[in-house]
Amino acid sequence: CGIVGVTGREDTVEILLHGLEKLEYRGYDSAGIYVSDEQGADYLIKEKGKIADLRAEIGPEVHGLAGIGHTRWATHGIPNKDNAHPHFSADKRFYLVHNGVIGNFKQLREEYLHDVDFKSETDTEVVVQLIGYLAKKDHLDAKAAFKKAISLLDDSSSYAFVLMDREEPGKIFVAKKKSPLLIGIGEGFNVVCSDAMAMLNVTHDFIELEDGDVVEITASKIKIEDENGKSVERNQFHVDEDASASDKGAYEFYMLKEIDEQPAVMHKLQAEYFDEAGNVQIDEKLLAEMTAADRLYIVAAGTSYHAGLVGKELFEKITRIPTEVHVASEFAYNPPLLAPKPFFIFLTQSGETADSREVLKQVNKWGYPSLTITNVPNSTLSREASHTLLLYAGPEIAVASTKAYTAQIAVEAILTKALAEYQELETAASFDVKSELTKVANAMQTAVDQKHQVEKLAADYLATTRNAFYIGRAIDYDVAIEAALKLKEVSYVQTEGFASGELKHGTIALIEEGTPVIAIITNKATAAHTRSNVQEVIARGANVITIVAGELAQPGDQIVLEDVHPLLTPLVSIVPAQLLAYYTSKNRGYDVDKPRNLAKSVTVE
Ligand code: G6P
Repeated sequence: CGIVGVTGREDTVEILLHGLEKLEYRGYDSAGIYVSDEQGADYLIKEKGKIADLRAEIGPEVHGLAGIGHTRWATHGIPNKDNAHPHFSADKRFYLVHNGVIGNFKQLREEYLHDVDFKSETDTEVVVQLIGYLAKKDHLDAKAAFKKAISLLDDSSSYAFVLMDREEPGKIFVAKKKSPLLIGIGEGFNVVCSDAMAMLNVTHDFIELEDGDVVEITASKIKIEDENGKSVERNQFHVDEDASASDKGAYEFYMLKEIDEQPAVMHKLQAEYFDEAGNVQIDEKLLAEMTAADRLYIVAAGTSYHAGLVGKELFEKITRIPTEVHVASEFAYNPPLLAPKPFFIFLTQSGETADSREVLKQVNKWGYPSLTITNVPNSTLSREASHTLLLYAGPEIAVASTKAYTAQIAVEAILTKALAEYQELETAASFDVKSELTKVANAMQTAVDQKHQVEKLAADYLATTRNAFYIGRAIDYDVAIEAALKLKEVSYVQTEGFASGELKHGTIALIEEGTPVIAIITNKATAAHTRSNVQEVIARGANVITIVAGELAQPGDQIVLEDVHPLLTPLVSIVPAQLLAYYTSKNRGYDVDKPRNLAKSVTVE
């Protein structure tokens, strides 16, 4: 979910709506705002659907000097108007928005609130009702009631809360644990937001909160207390990013813009990670810690997990350090037997994924070193790991990740090179990542320039199908899984990524007349075998599209890629797959950037 708040601005409503639009990638099933002015006028507006639907509900009379807003990705309770935030206490005194999950909300409801007539099915409403109940019963002011309510939440709970009290207009109260929340500093006003991007139109200066912090904010003051109630100062940081970096320009959807940006991201990474002489620049302390490890553990979710699979190929083949890749939510509560000297790599474009953070917290408890590879400086996982490497991909807005995936693989490749050099391995010399990334950028450009051919393939093969398969072997299998995820998440075509040799052991039963099968063939050692598997599915009626590296191309292949280093082919072979997903979704009339049921940054477990 995404949260915004503001105090001290005449244009509060517009700031909230603009902020929510920028946070829509965090959830978009319903949204709402609450605003009030100094004279006691207040407005609560909520709507099912996207921010545009909420905007349409807001008339010119709605105004305020302070307010809060929320865009939701449903956890407890279906997406509808009642379950949308802000939620309010029975006496309509307190208004609350929340990102996170309250572990003991049922117990709290039973223990304290059995008489209350609840308006929603959410865990959040329990908290605001509890605040209202405690304020009344113990004659507490907003802050005291807020703190008391928070003290009753169980350890498993996660929250970023923003609270307003009708009796103290102009003030907003904030509390944070596990879920992300920033305070933005203005002149004569202050704001809060889940992500700096939401407020770059009004400020570039932010304060990062720590878990357990409770904050009281007015137009001129920010008072932060830590979990023990002690007044504290927190780190400030400046975000240089231009507000327009997240604009769509002439594109209909961000996803296509971001696919097209991938060659530029490769060049940006060259500029960031290499000096003028072409030497890779990575902190030696990080390299020393990594090479001292006897095993690398890559932990990630979703697309980042798939980038981790490619990372394993790079780390093992070039640096010879054994590497395991784990799904964060699985690792967290069922960790594998660890090697004696593990090193952890967290791949997370947002730096906020709760599943990954849970693992990092354990890793920190165990005392092992770690690295976060992320697109967001100052994000939670970046702050909490021993080291950070940035992706420099620029804001990625479409929910389906494209340029962050390729940036992750490129950073893994750069890191691999640095590790090999640090260890003085022979493989270092033959893996000239800087010039390989130039080839990659060119090959990506050729692939995006072929988009109209891919659009036609999407129309011919995928327009109406219910299911599809991606197949590949070795590194092409890693890409097949990511390619399948892309297609399913934006076009709702049930797609499986399969090891092509394994298909005949069961799943081939699903191939029927006309089933689309897309084969990725860039791995020389396995190309002939994958070609045989292609023949097997054709014999059973499949319609096959091939995505093939130039040197392995044969007459009849539909998508032929320029050749790049064999360990970097995923950077190029994923591009047509991203385009197939994009055009299939667009042709079917879907909102490509905001596929149903998803959110870009999932800050609940
Ligand atoms: C969500 C997004 C995915 C993303 C995953 C991990 O589920 O919808 O696109 O891959 O989170 O996100 P992260 O920010 O940790 O890379």
